[in-house]
Amino acid sequence: MRLLTVFTAVLVVASAQTATNQFPEGFMFGAATAAYQIEGAWNEDGKGESIQDYYFHNHPELIIGGVTGDVACDSYHRYQEDVQMLKALNADVYRFSISWPRVLPNGDLDVINQAGIDYYNNLINELLANGIQPLVTMYHWDLPQALQYIGGWSNELMAEYFVEYARVLFENYGDRVKWWITFNEPAVFVNGYATESAAPSQPASGIGDYLATHTIVKAHARVWHLYDEQFRAAQNGSVGITLNMDWPAALTNSTEDEEAGERARQFQMGIFAHPIYTQDGDYPAVVRQLVDANSEAEGRPRSRLPTFTQEEIEYIRGSADFFGMNHYATTYVTSGVTGESPSKTRDSAVISSSHERNPWGLRNQLNWVANQYPGYPIIISENGYANAGALNDTDRIEYFTACLGAVLEAINTDGVPVIGYAAWSLMDDLEWNWGFILKYGLYEVDFNSPNRTRTPKESAGFMAELFSSKQLPDQYN
Ligand code: NOJ
Repeated sequence: MRLLTVFTAVLVVASAQTATNQFPEGFMFGAATAAYQIEGAWNEDGKGESIQDYYFHNHPELIIGGVTGDVACDSYHRYQEDVQMLKALNADVYRFSISWPRVLPNGDLDVINQAGIDYYNNLINELLANGIQPLVTMYHWDLPQALQYIGGWSNELMAEYFVEYARVLFENYGDRVKWWITFNEPAVFVNGYATESAAPSQPASGIGDYLATHTIVKAHARVWHLYDEQFRAAQNGSVGITLNMDWPAALTNSTEDEEAGERARQFQMGIFAHPIYTQDGDYPAVVRQLVDANSEAEGRPRSRLPTFTQEEIEYIRGSADFFGMNHYATTYVTSGVTGESPSKTRDSAVISSSHERNPWGLRNQLNWVANQYPGYPIIISENGYANAGALNDTDRIEYFTACLGAVLEAINTDGVPVIGYAAWSLMDDLEWNWGFILKYGLYEVDFNSPNRTRTPKESAGFMAELFSSKQLPDQYN
Protein backbone atom coordinates (compact mmCIF):
# COMPACT_ATOMS: atom_id res chain seq x y z
CA MET A 1 0.00 0.00 0.00
CA ARG A 2 2.71 2.36 1.07
CA LEU A 3 4.79 1.35 -1.92
CA LEU A 4 1.87 2.06 -4.19
CA THR A 5 1.49 5.53 -2.68
CA VAL A 6 5.16 6.28 -3.24
CA PHE A 7 4.91 4.94 -6.80
CA THR A 8 1.85 7.06 -7.50
CA ALA A 9 3.57 10.12 -6.06
CA VAL A 10 6.57 9.53 -8.32
CA LEU A 11 4.29 9.25 -11.31
CA VAL A 12 2.53 12.48 -10.46
CA VAL A 13 5.84 14.30 -10.09
CA ALA A 14 7.09 12.80 -13.35
CA SER A 15 4.04 13.85 -15.31
CA ALA A 16 4.08 17.29 -13.70
CA GLN A 17 7.70 17.65 -14.77
CA THR A 18 6.85 16.63 -18.29
CA ALA A 19 4.03 19.12 -18.43
CA THR A 20 6.28 21.93 -17.20
CA ASN A 21 9.17 21.00 -19.46
CA GLN A 22 7.10 20.50 -22.54
CA PHE A 23 6.53 23.19 -25.16
CA PRO A 24 3.02 23.29 -26.59
CA GLU A 25 1.93 21.26 -29.57
CA GLY A 26 2.87 23.04 -32.80
CA PHE A 27 5.46 25.30 -31.11
CA MET A 28 7.95 26.45 -33.78
CA PHE A 29 11.65 26.24 -33.06
CA GLY A 30 14.40 27.50 -35.30
CA ALA A 31 17.35 29.80 -35.81
CA ALA A 32 17.74 33.29 -37.25
CA THR A 33 20.11 35.22 -39.49
CA ALA A 34 20.07 38.41 -41.58
CA ALA A 35 21.16 39.03 -45.16
CA TYR A 36 24.00 41.52 -44.65
CA GLN A 37 25.40 39.53 -41.77
CA ILE A 38 25.79 36.26 -43.68
CA GLU A 39 25.27 36.48 -47.45
CA GLY A 40 28.36 38.22 -48.80
CA ALA A 41 28.29 38.52 -52.62
CA TRP A 42 27.70 42.19 -52.01
CA ASN A 43 27.97 43.19 -55.66
CA GLU A 44 27.38 39.93 -57.48
CA ASP A 45 24.73 39.01 -60.04
CA GLY A 46 23.21 42.47 -60.26
CA LYS A 47 22.84 43.25 -56.55
CA GLY A 48 22.71 46.98 -55.80
CA GLU A 49 24.61 48.76 -53.03
CA SER A 50 22.93 48.90 -49.63
CA ILE A 51 23.42 51.45 -46.85
CA GLN A 52 25.38 48.76 -45.03
CA ASP A 53 27.75 48.24 -47.98
CA TYR A 54 28.22 52.00 -48.12
CA TYR A 55 28.71 52.36 -44.35
CA PHE A 56 31.16 49.48 -43.97
CA HIS A 57 33.17 50.57 -47.03
CA ASN A 58 33.35 54.19 -45.94
CA HIS A 59 33.67 53.93 -42.18
CA PRO A 60 36.23 51.22 -41.40
CA GLU A 61 37.26 53.29 -38.37
CA LEU A 62 33.87 52.60 -36.75
CA ILE A 63 34.06 48.83 -37.24
CA ILE A 64 36.19 46.55 -35.09
CA GLY A 65 38.93 45.24 -37.37
CA GLY A 66 37.74 47.46 -40.23
CA VAL A 67 36.03 44.41 -41.73
CA THR A 68 33.05 44.34 -44.12
CA GLY A 69 30.19 42.04 -45.10
CA ASP A 70 31.55 41.69 -48.64
CA VAL A 71 31.95 37.95 -48.12
CA ALA A 72 30.73 37.34 -44.53
CA CYS A 73 29.63 33.67 -44.27
CA ASP A 74 29.31 33.48 -48.07
CA SER A 75 25.77 32.17 -47.69
CA TYR A 76 24.89 33.48 -51.14
CA HIS A 77 26.95 30.56 -52.45
CA ARG A 78 26.55 28.19 -49.49
CA TYR A 79 22.86 28.33 -48.67
CA GLN A 80 22.47 24.59 -49.25
CA GLU A 81 24.96 23.95 -46.46
CA ASP A 82 23.02 26.36 -44.25
CA VAL A 83 19.84 24.40 -44.86
CA GLN A 84 21.60 21.15 -43.96
CA MET A 85 22.74 22.79 -40.71
CA LEU A 86 19.14 23.73 -39.96
CA LYS A 87 18.04 20.23 -40.76
CA ALA A 88 20.63 18.82 -38.37
CA LEU A 89 19.19 21.15 -35.73
CA ASN A 90 15.71 19.68 -36.33
CA ALA A 91 14.54 23.25 -36.93
CA ASP A 92 10.89 23.85 -37.79
CA VAL A 93 11.57 27.35 -39.10
CA TYR A 94 14.42 29.41 -40.50
CA ARG A 95 14.24 33.13 -39.96
CA PHE A 96 16.28 34.90 -42.65
CA SER A 97 16.02 38.30 -44.29
CA ILE A 98 15.76 39.36 -47.90
CA SER A 99 18.20 41.95 -49.11
CA TRP A 100 16.09 44.65 -50.75
CA PRO A 101 18.90 45.78 -53.13
CA ARG A 102 19.53 42.18 -54.21
CA VAL A 103 15.95 42.07 -55.50
CA LEU A 104 15.55 45.74 -56.49
CA PRO A 105 19.08 47.14 -56.98
CA ASN A 106 17.87 50.76 -57.04
CA GLY A 107 15.13 50.24 -54.47
CA ASP A 108 12.52 51.11 -57.10
CA LEU A 109 10.72 48.98 -59.66
CA ASP A 110 12.81 50.27 -62.58
CA VAL A 111 15.08 47.24 -62.29
CA ILE A 112 13.94 43.86 -60.98
CA ASN A 113 16.97 41.64 -60.56
CA GLN A 114 16.00 38.14 -61.65
CA ALA A 115 19.16 36.61 -60.18
CA GLY A 116 18.19 38.04 -56.79
CA ILE A 117 14.64 36.75 -57.09
CA ASP A 118 16.06 33.33 -58.02
CA TYR A 119 18.42 33.22 -55.06
CA TYR A 120 15.60 33.51 -52.52
CA ASN A 121 13.42 31.14 -54.55
CA ASN A 122 16.18 28.56 -54.36
CA LEU A 123 16.64 29.10 -50.64
CA ILE A 124 12.90 28.86 -49.94
CA ASN A 125 12.55 25.73 -52.08
CA GLU A 126 15.55 24.12 -50.43
CA LEU A 127 14.09 24.83 -46.99
CA LEU A 128 10.69 23.42 -47.86
CA ALA A 129 12.25 20.33 -49.45
CA ASN A 130 13.87 19.75 -46.07
CA GLY A 131 10.71 20.30 -44.07
CA ILE A 132 11.65 23.77 -42.77
CA GLN A 133 9.25 26.73 -42.90
CA PRO A 134 10.63 30.10 -43.98
CA LEU A 135 10.04 33.02 -41.58
CA VAL A 136 11.06 35.98 -43.69
CA THR A 137 12.18 39.43 -42.60
CA MET A 138 11.63 41.98 -45.34
CA TYR A 139 13.93 44.58 -43.85
CA HIS A 140 16.91 43.82 -41.66
CA TRP A 141 18.66 47.17 -42.00
CA ASP A 142 19.97 47.07 -45.59
CA LEU A 143 18.15 49.84 -47.42
CA PRO A 144 19.21 50.33 -51.05
CA GLN A 145 21.74 53.17 -50.98
CA ALA A 146 19.87 54.75 -53.92
CA LEU A 147 16.94 55.35 -51.56
CA GLN A 148 19.20 56.83 -48.89
CA TYR A 149 20.25 59.47 -51.42
CA ILE A 150 16.66 60.69 -51.25
CA GLY A 151 16.52 60.67 -47.44
CA GLY A 152 15.96 57.03 -46.55
CA TRP A 153 13.52 56.38 -43.71
CA SER A 154 13.40 60.04 -42.74
CA ASN A 155 11.52 60.60 -46.02
CA GLU A 156 7.86 59.60 -45.67
CA LEU A 157 7.83 58.54 -49.33
CA MET A 158 9.89 55.54 -48.25
CA ALA A 159 6.64 53.92 -47.09
CA GLU A 160 5.53 53.84 -50.70
CA TYR A 161 8.77 52.30 -51.94
CA PHE A 162 8.53 49.72 -49.18
CA VAL A 163 5.00 48.74 -50.16
CA GLU A 164 6.09 48.25 -53.76
CA TYR A 165 9.03 46.11 -52.64
CA ALA A 166 6.71 44.09 -50.40
CA ARG A 167 4.37 43.48 -53.32
CA VAL A 168 7.29 42.01 -55.30
CA LEU A 169 7.99 39.68 -52.36
CA PHE A 170 4.36 38.58 -51.92
CA GLU A 171 4.01 38.00 -55.66
CA ASN A 172 7.19 35.98 -55.98
CA TYR A 173 7.33 34.10 -52.69
CA GLY A 174 3.94 34.35 -50.99
CA ASP A 175 2.75 31.04 -52.37
CA ARG A 176 5.35 29.35 -50.14
CA VAL A 177 6.20 31.88 -47.40
CA LYS A 178 3.53 31.98 -44.69
CA TRP A 179 5.32 34.08 -42.07
CA TRP A 180 6.40 37.63 -42.83
CA ILE A 181 8.15 40.17 -40.60
CA THR A 182 8.12 43.66 -42.09
CA PHE A 183 10.89 45.26 -40.01
CA ASN A 184 13.53 43.98 -37.64
CA GLU A 185 14.26 46.04 -34.53
CA PRO A 186 13.34 49.52 -35.77
CA ALA A 187 14.29 50.89 -32.33
CA VAL A 188 17.86 50.01 -33.22
CA PHE A 189 18.08 50.94 -36.88
CA VAL A 190 16.50 54.39 -36.48
CA ASN A 191 19.74 55.19 -34.67
CA GLY A 192 21.29 55.47 -38.10
CA TYR A 193 19.32 58.74 -38.31
CA ALA A 194 20.56 59.89 -34.89
CA THR A 195 24.26 59.07 -34.93
CA GLU A 196 27.21 58.58 -37.26
CA SER A 197 28.07 55.19 -35.86
CA ALA A 198 25.33 53.20 -37.57
CA ALA A 199 24.19 53.11 -41.19
CA PRO A 200 23.22 55.40 -42.88
CA SER A 201 25.25 57.65 -40.58
CA GLN A 202 22.93 60.64 -40.44
CA PRO A 203 23.53 62.38 -37.11
CA ALA A 204 20.19 64.16 -36.66
CA SER A 205 19.63 63.02 -33.09
CA GLY A 206 16.17 63.53 -31.62
CA ILE A 207 14.78 64.54 -35.03
CA GLY A 208 15.82 62.14 -37.79
CA ASP A 209 15.19 59.10 -35.61
CA TYR A 210 11.61 60.25 -34.88
CA LEU A 211 10.99 61.00 -38.57
CA ALA A 212 12.24 57.52 -39.43
CA THR A 213 10.04 56.01 -36.72
CA HIS A 214 7.00 57.74 -38.18
CA THR A 215 7.69 56.44 -41.69
CA ILE A 216 8.39 52.90 -40.46
CA VAL A 217 5.12 52.62 -38.52
CA LYS A 218 3.18 53.82 -41.56
CA ALA A 219 5.12 51.58 -43.93
CA HIS A 220 4.46 48.56 -41.74
CA ALA A 221 0.73 49.26 -41.65
CA ARG A 222 0.56 49.74 -45.39
CA VAL A 223 2.26 46.42 -46.05
CA TRP A 224 -0.07 44.61 -43.64
CA HIS A 225 -3.09 46.16 -45.42
CA LEU A 226 -1.66 45.26 -48.80
CA TYR A 227 -1.36 41.65 -47.68
CA ASP A 228 -4.73 41.65 -45.98
CA GLU A 229 -6.56 43.10 -48.94
CA GLN A 230 -4.77 41.56 -51.90
CA PHE A 231 -2.86 38.45 -50.86
CA ARG A 232 -4.27 36.92 -47.69
CA ALA A 233 -7.20 35.13 -49.31
CA ALA A 234 -4.96 33.27 -51.74
CA GLN A 235 -1.83 32.93 -49.62
CA ASN A 236 -3.20 32.58 -46.11
CA GLY A 237 -0.11 33.72 -44.22
CA SER A 238 0.66 36.08 -41.33
CA VAL A 239 2.37 39.46 -41.21
CA GLY A 240 3.96 41.00 -38.11
CA ILE A 241 6.86 43.22 -37.04
CA THR A 242 9.82 42.42 -34.78
CA LEU A 243 10.36 44.78 -31.86
CA ASN A 244 13.08 44.55 -29.27
CA MET A 245 14.19 45.82 -25.94
CA ASP A 246 16.63 44.94 -23.24
CA TRP A 247 14.14 44.56 -20.41
CA PRO A 248 14.35 47.90 -18.51
CA ALA A 249 14.29 47.01 -14.81
CA ALA A 250 14.10 49.69 -12.12
CA LEU A 251 17.46 50.09 -10.38
CA THR A 252 15.73 50.65 -7.01
CA ASN A 253 12.15 50.07 -5.94
CA SER A 254 11.48 53.81 -5.70
CA THR A 255 8.39 55.05 -7.55
CA GLU A 256 10.66 57.29 -9.67
CA ASP A 257 12.74 54.37 -10.87
CA GLU A 258 9.70 52.18 -11.49
CA GLU A 259 8.25 54.99 -13.61
CA ALA A 260 11.57 55.36 -15.42
CA GLY A 261 11.40 51.66 -16.26
CA GLU A 262 7.97 52.11 -17.78
CA ARG A 263 9.06 55.21 -19.70
CA ALA A 264 12.02 53.27 -21.10
CA ARG A 265 9.64 50.52 -22.29
CA GLN A 266 7.34 53.04 -23.96
CA PHE A 267 10.18 54.93 -25.64
CA GLN A 268 11.88 51.78 -26.90
CA MET A 269 9.08 49.40 -27.74
CA GLY A 270 5.83 51.29 -27.20
CA ILE A 271 6.71 53.96 -29.75
CA PHE A 272 6.33 51.27 -32.44
CA ALA A 273 3.98 48.83 -30.72
CA HIS A 274 1.37 51.20 -29.31
CA PRO A 275 0.20 52.54 -32.70
CA ILE A 276 -0.04 49.00 -34.12
CA TYR A 277 -1.07 46.72 -31.26
CA THR A 278 -3.34 48.71 -28.90
CA GLN A 279 -7.05 49.47 -29.15
CA ASP A 280 -6.39 53.21 -28.87
CA GLY A 281 -3.54 53.30 -31.36
CA ASP A 282 -1.21 56.32 -31.75
CA TYR A 283 2.06 56.91 -29.91
CA PRO A 284 2.12 56.19 -26.17
CA ALA A 285 0.81 59.22 -24.24
CA VAL A 286 4.00 59.59 -22.21
CA VAL A 287 6.15 59.70 -25.35
CA ARG A 288 3.88 62.22 -27.05
CA GLN A 289 3.80 64.45 -24.00
CA LEU A 290 7.54 64.46 -23.25
CA VAL A 291 8.72 65.04 -26.82
CA ASP A 292 6.10 67.76 -27.36
CA ALA A 293 7.04 69.52 -24.12
CA ASN A 294 10.76 69.39 -24.81
CA SER A 295 10.29 70.57 -28.40
CA GLU A 296 8.30 73.54 -27.16
CA ALA A 297 10.83 74.37 -24.46
CA GLU A 298 13.53 74.34 -27.16
CA GLY A 299 11.58 77.07 -28.97
CA ARG A 300 10.54 74.91 -31.92
CA PRO A 301 7.34 75.66 -33.80
CA ARG A 302 6.52 71.92 -34.04
CA SER A 303 7.15 68.73 -32.14
CA ARG A 304 10.18 66.72 -33.19
CA LEU A 305 7.85 63.70 -33.14
CA PRO A 306 5.41 63.95 -36.07
CA THR A 307 1.70 63.36 -35.48
CA PHE A 308 -0.68 60.88 -37.07
CA THR A 309 -4.03 62.04 -38.39
CA GLN A 310 -7.10 60.35 -36.87
CA GLU A 311 -7.53 58.47 -40.11
CA GLU A 312 -3.95 57.21 -39.91
CA ILE A 313 -4.39 56.16 -36.28
CA GLU A 314 -7.34 54.01 -37.25
CA TYR A 315 -5.61 52.59 -40.30
CA ILE A 316 -2.49 51.62 -38.32
CA ARG A 317 -4.07 50.05 -35.24
CA GLY A 318 -4.64 46.34 -35.53
CA SER A 319 -2.29 46.05 -38.53
CA ALA A 320 -0.55 42.84 -37.42
CA ASP A 321 -1.23 39.13 -37.12
CA PHE A 322 1.46 38.37 -34.54
CA PHE A 323 4.05 40.11 -32.40
CA GLY A 324 7.73 39.42 -33.11
CA MET A 325 9.84 40.01 -30.02
CA ASN A 326 13.63 40.01 -29.58
CA HIS A 327 15.30 39.81 -26.21
CA TYR A 328 18.93 39.58 -25.11
CA ALA A 329 19.39 41.20 -21.72
CA THR A 330 18.09 43.27 -18.82
CA THR A 331 19.17 46.91 -18.35
CA TYR A 332 18.87 48.60 -14.97
CA VAL A 333 17.40 52.07 -15.24
CA THR A 334 16.90 55.05 -13.02
CA SER A 335 15.09 58.34 -13.42
CA GLY A 336 17.10 61.34 -14.61
CA VAL A 337 17.97 63.49 -17.57
CA THR A 338 21.00 62.52 -19.62
CA GLY A 339 22.21 62.44 -23.23
CA GLU A 340 22.77 65.08 -25.88
CA SER A 341 20.12 67.65 -26.64
CA PRO A 342 17.96 66.86 -28.44
CA SER A 343 17.83 63.09 -28.19
CA LYS A 344 15.44 60.28 -27.53
CA THR A 345 17.42 59.38 -24.42
CA ARG A 346 17.04 62.90 -23.09
CA ASP A 347 13.33 63.02 -23.93
CA SER A 348 12.75 59.75 -22.08
CA ALA A 349 14.41 61.05 -18.88
CA VAL A 350 15.88 57.64 -18.22
CA ILE A 351 19.44 56.84 -17.22
CA SER A 352 20.58 53.31 -18.07
CA SER A 353 23.24 51.69 -15.94
CA SER A 354 24.36 48.08 -15.98
CA HIS A 355 23.30 45.24 -18.26
CA GLU A 356 22.70 41.71 -17.14
CA ARG A 357 21.74 38.45 -18.86
CA ASN A 358 19.12 36.72 -16.77
CA PRO A 359 15.99 34.67 -17.45
CA TRP A 360 13.56 36.78 -15.44
CA GLY A 361 14.05 39.79 -17.71
CA LEU A 362 12.74 37.69 -20.59
CA ARG A 363 9.79 36.41 -18.55
CA ASN A 364 8.92 39.95 -17.42
CA GLN A 365 9.20 41.24 -20.96
CA LEU A 366 6.91 38.52 -22.30
CA ASN A 367 4.34 39.30 -19.62
CA TRP A 368 4.57 43.02 -20.26
CA VAL A 369 4.07 42.56 -24.01
CA ALA A 370 1.13 40.17 -23.45
CA ASN A 371 -0.52 42.65 -21.05
CA GLN A 372 0.06 45.78 -23.10
CA TYR A 373 -0.87 44.20 -26.42
CA PRO A 374 -3.36 41.44 -25.67
CA GLY A 375 -4.70 39.14 -28.32
CA TYR A 376 -1.54 38.66 -30.39
CA PRO A 377 0.48 35.45 -30.56
CA ILE A 378 4.14 36.15 -29.80
CA ILE A 379 7.09 34.78 -31.73
CA ILE A 380 10.44 35.23 -30.03
CA SER A 381 12.23 36.07 -33.24
CA GLU A 382 15.66 36.38 -31.60
CA ASN A 383 17.31 35.40 -28.36
CA GLY A 384 20.98 34.58 -28.08
CA TYR A 385 24.29 34.73 -26.30
CA ALA A 386 27.59 36.20 -27.48
CA ASN A 387 31.01 35.05 -26.42
CA ALA A 388 34.52 35.21 -27.86
CA GLY A 389 34.14 31.84 -29.54
CA ALA A 390 34.51 28.20 -28.46
CA LEU A 391 33.17 24.90 -29.76
CA ASN A 392 32.62 23.84 -26.18
CA ASP A 393 30.09 26.60 -25.47
CA THR A 394 28.53 25.52 -22.17
CA ASP A 395 27.92 29.21 -21.32
CA ARG A 396 25.59 29.45 -24.32
CA ILE A 397 23.84 26.20 -23.41
CA GLU A 398 23.27 27.52 -19.89
CA TYR A 399 21.88 30.77 -21.27
CA PHE A 400 19.48 29.00 -23.63
CA THR A 401 18.40 26.62 -20.88
CA ALA A 402 17.65 29.48 -18.50
CA CYS A 403 15.84 31.55 -21.15
CA LEU A 404 13.77 28.65 -22.45
CA GLY A 405 12.85 27.80 -18.86
CA ALA A 406 11.59 31.36 -18.53
CA VAL A 407 9.64 31.00 -21.77
CA LEU A 408 8.02 27.81 -20.45
CA GLU A 409 7.05 29.56 -17.24
CA ALA A 410 5.61 32.45 -19.21
CA ILE A 411 3.55 30.01 -21.26
CA ASN A 412 2.53 27.47 -18.64
CA THR A 413 2.27 29.58 -15.49
CA ASP A 414 1.53 33.08 -16.79
CA GLY A 415 -0.50 32.11 -19.85
CA VAL A 416 1.54 34.18 -22.33
CA PRO A 417 0.75 33.03 -25.90
CA VAL A 418 4.27 32.35 -27.19
CA ILE A 419 4.11 30.25 -30.37
CA GLY A 420 7.69 30.18 -31.58
CA TYR A 421 11.34 30.78 -30.78
CA ALA A 422 14.31 31.47 -33.08
CA ALA A 423 17.82 31.38 -31.65
CA TRP A 424 20.27 34.03 -32.75
CA SER A 425 22.14 32.88 -34.58
CA LEU A 426 22.36 29.88 -36.86
CA MET A 427 26.08 30.62 -37.26
CA ASP A 428 28.76 33.13 -36.34
CA ASP A 429 28.30 36.17 -38.53
CA LEU A 430 29.18 39.81 -39.08
CA GLU A 431 27.98 41.46 -35.88
CA TRP A 432 27.68 45.01 -37.23
CA ASN A 433 30.17 47.41 -35.57
CA TRP A 434 31.60 44.48 -33.60
CA GLY A 435 32.86 42.93 -36.80
CA PHE A 436 33.63 39.23 -36.45
CA ILE A 437 34.77 39.20 -32.84
CA LEU A 438 31.38 38.60 -31.21
CA LYS A 439 30.25 35.02 -31.72
CA TYR A 440 26.56 34.16 -31.45
CA GLY A 441 26.44 31.04 -33.64
CA LEU A 442 25.22 27.55 -32.95
CA TYR A 443 27.73 26.80 -35.70
CA GLU A 444 31.22 28.21 -35.80
CA VAL A 445 32.34 29.80 -39.06
CA ASP A 446 36.01 29.92 -39.94
CA PHE A 447 36.27 33.37 -41.47
CA ASN A 448 39.87 32.68 -42.49
CA SER A 449 39.03 29.75 -44.71
CA PRO A 450 37.91 30.38 -48.30
CA ASN A 451 35.13 27.83 -47.73
CA ARG A 452 33.94 29.61 -44.62
CA THR A 453 33.96 26.18 -42.98
CA ARG A 454 31.06 25.65 -40.60
CA THR A 455 31.45 23.44 -37.50
CA PRO A 456 28.72 22.62 -35.00
CA LYS A 457 29.28 23.84 -31.46
CA GLU A 458 28.03 21.91 -28.44
CA SER A 459 25.03 24.22 -28.33
CA ALA A 460 24.01 22.94 -31.77
CA GLY A 461 23.72 19.42 -30.38
CA PHE A 462 21.83 20.70 -27.36
CA MET A 463 19.36 22.64 -29.51
CA ALA A 464 18.94 19.74 -31.96
CA GLU A 465 17.79 17.56 -29.08
CA LEU A 466 15.51 20.24 -27.69
CA PHE A 467 14.03 21.18 -31.08
CA SER A 468 13.11 17.56 -31.76
CA SER A 469 11.75 16.63 -28.30
CA LYS A 470 10.26 20.10 -27.72
CA GLN A 471 11.19 19.45 -24.15
CA LEU A 472 13.70 21.18 -21.91
CA PRO A 473 16.08 18.66 -20.35
CA ASP A 474 15.64 17.63 -16.74
CA GLN A 475 18.38 19.77 -15.21
CA TYR A 476 16.00 22.70 -15.69
CA ASN A 477 13.98 21.51 -12.65
C1 NOJ B 1 19.76 42.10 -33.00
C2 NOJ B 1 19.77 42.14 -34.48
O1 NOJ B 1 18.54 41.91 -35.05
C3 NOJ B 1 20.86 41.28 -35.10
O2 NOJ B 1 21.10 41.76 -36.37
C4 NOJ B 1 22.07 41.29 -34.21
O3 NOJ B 1 23.17 40.73 -34.80
C5 NOJ B 1 21.72 40.58 -32.92
N1 NOJ B 1 20.58 41.22 -32.31
C6 NOJ B 1 22.85 40.49 -31.91
O4 NOJ B 1 23.18 41.73 -31.44
